[in-house]
Amino acid sequence: MELPLLDDMHVHLRQGAMLRHVVPLTRAGGVGRCVVMPNTDPPLTSVDSVRHYKRELASCSTDIDFLMTLYLCPALESMDMAAAREAGVVGIKCYPQGVTTNSDWGVADLQRYDALFAEMEREGIVLQLHGEVPRTPASDVCILNAEERFLPEVVRIHKSFPRLRVVLEHVTTAAAVACVKELGEKVGATITAHHLDLIVDDWAGRNHNYCKPVAKYPHDRDALREVVSSAHPRFFLGSDSAPHPRSAKEGACGCAGVFTAPLLLPYLADTFERIGMLDRLHDFGCVFGRTFYALPAPQGRVILEKTEQIVPDEYDGVVPYRAGERIGWRIV
Ligand code: DOR
Ligand code: ZN
Repeated sequence: MELPLLDDMHVHLRQGAMLRHVVPLTRAGGVGRCVVMPNTDPPLTSVDSVRHYKRELASCSTDIDFLMTLYLCPALESMDMAAAREAGVVGIKCYPQGVTTNSDWGVADLQRYDALFAEMEREGIVLQLHGEVPRTPASDVCILNAEERFLPEVVRIHKSFPRLRVVLEHVTTAAAVACVKELGEKVGATITAHHLDLIVDDWAGRNHNYCKPVAKYPHDRDALREVVSSAHPRFFLGSDSAPHPRSAKEGACGCAGVFTAPLLLPYLADTFERIGMLDRLHDFGCVFGRTFYALPAPQGRVILEKTEQIVPDEYDGVVPYRAGERIGWRIV
């Protein structure tokens, strides 16, 4: 099967030695272009930091087009958005405070940024939402309802800024799918490879499948599968591949993140074939994302062969998704 290289509209590429390890593996997984998340430590909050980070990424692979993001925080309120765009920024990522890895600098009050959202709407910069409300002592919020509780905020932002492109990242619930469908052409959603497979039982007690937002109920996973199988053009690939060292995943309090980058395309082909929607892979992975982001068609192509392979136990200290399992495809 021959496909264009994947557009991965949501990936974590980290810093330092981990970055140098992960970037080439990302290309090996079939990705030719990706939207790089800004939750580094410290996060990307200035145009200079984005330029510097992009240079570092490019020094590890000249074969990937890195689309950059900024981390929503007060420093962005006075930033020249046109200059940010020139530095390669396509979007601004909102992390509600405390919901995931490196979100301590994140947002406590989204409404505070309405002026910035208006500016982004004018400049054509995408707002990327980590859609979970933080837990508070007084509320009944928990990781199973945090995404659904966030949805009214997506509706509010869309109604207030109808021409602002908004991506609800890594959707995991039937409710989020329904909400995005209803909101019309400026609102899209990414879906990960692993959320097309996993449910609650698969991560409870199995740290390497634990990520945020967590995989939900069977009917939620089925809603993700159905919307992809229906070839809905506003639901596209964002792997949320998020490497952590084995020790950080396997400790008493494991970090959130599933590492899919090195075999992203084979995982997708395996899952899509298993659930009878292999014919949807091309548009989901290679067309709908770039269309939403208004990007040109990519050049490179990749050939997948229907040959079994066993997922390695680790990639230099990082355990990949489905380690040790058989998958039905390999990239040649
Ligand atoms: O599981 C996750 N890991 N979800 C996120 O939102 C962040 C990511 C990470 O950076 O590790
Ligand atoms: Zn992410």
